[in-house]
Amino acid sequence: MERLSDLAEWRHWCEEIRRSGRTVGLVPTMGALHAGHASLADAATHAGDAVVMTIFVNPRQFDDPSDLSAYPSTPAEDDEVARRHGVEALVRPRLEEMWPSYPHPTATTVRVSGLSEMFEGVDRPGHFDGVASVVTKILTVTGPCRLYMGEKDFQQVAVVRQFVRDLGFDVEVRSCPTVRDSDGLALSSRNRRVSAEGRARALEVSRALHDLSEGRWTLRAAQAHLLTRLADAELDVAYAEVVDSETLERWGSGRTGRARVLVAVRVDGVRLIDNGPITIDEEG
Ligand code: PAJ
Repeated sequence: MERLSDLAEWRHWCEEIRRSGRTVGLVPTMGALHAGHASLADAATHAGDAVVMTIFVNPRQFDDPSDLSAYPSTPAEDDEVARRHGVEALVRPRLEEMWPSYPHPTATTVRVSGLSEMFEGVDRPGHFDGVASVVTKILTVTGPCRLYMGEKDFQQVAVVRQFVRDLGFDVEVRSCPTVRDSDGLALSSRNRRVSAEGRARALEVSRALHDLSEGRWTLRAAQAHLLTRLADAELDVAYAEVVDSETLERWGSGRTGRARVLVAVRVDGVRLIDNGPITIDEEG
């Protein structure tokens, strides 16, 4: 496994891979790797890509400074996970090269209007500008590739798909299913900050999503089921909505078909997000 940090070397490595006739499979992360991240590397390996994983804790996407300083860092374990899952180049870009003017604001921002302002964007202003800007830079250095992202961050994938289309990147975005712990909780580096009691309550989120993923629901029944389950667990709900999978617009009453359920709750002061599919049927 190659270990890189210079932008020039990283760009060159990817160019060489393409020159040799292979496809680059890019897996951007912020480290503290778990089985969710590893599943993205696995998907790229299975597709035959030369897997490039980046680890960069991007300060521009943290709206809350305490969230940034609390972000876990497990470099030795990350190396091991990357190696075990077939990563060929592990890139840890330096802050000075990624955002040369940091801690002063960077003049250039990529902003996806609309999609960035709903759901996560409401409580985390500027978050998706930070994500879109850093993923743009990572894609610019990497060049043409397949980009692997987790469905767990459903809105993030929607934002990235939108600017990839709008800006004409030669990139195929592949979203991969959410990896869960055996009890159903979606894996996240934030889970370690939740108490056992908090976790027990948070599990209602994945249970409710599981219920909604099976069979067919009227919009009204789905919303009632979701809100009841979350309220029974005394969860502090930021949002829990049935939405269109692409635009993330609220699902209109009377509309039928495949939709997405997006949920965010706060447990022990930690924000947890999850989502799942649903089929909406006519009102009975
Ligand atoms: P990070 O939270 O480290 O996640 C990196 C990638 O792993 C994202 O695509 C995320 O959706 C995916 N992932 C996280 N948990 C997952 C799970 N349980 N199952 C499947 N995939 C999962 O998301 C980011 O970093 C950053 O915003 C980034 C895109 C790297 C830009 O800075």
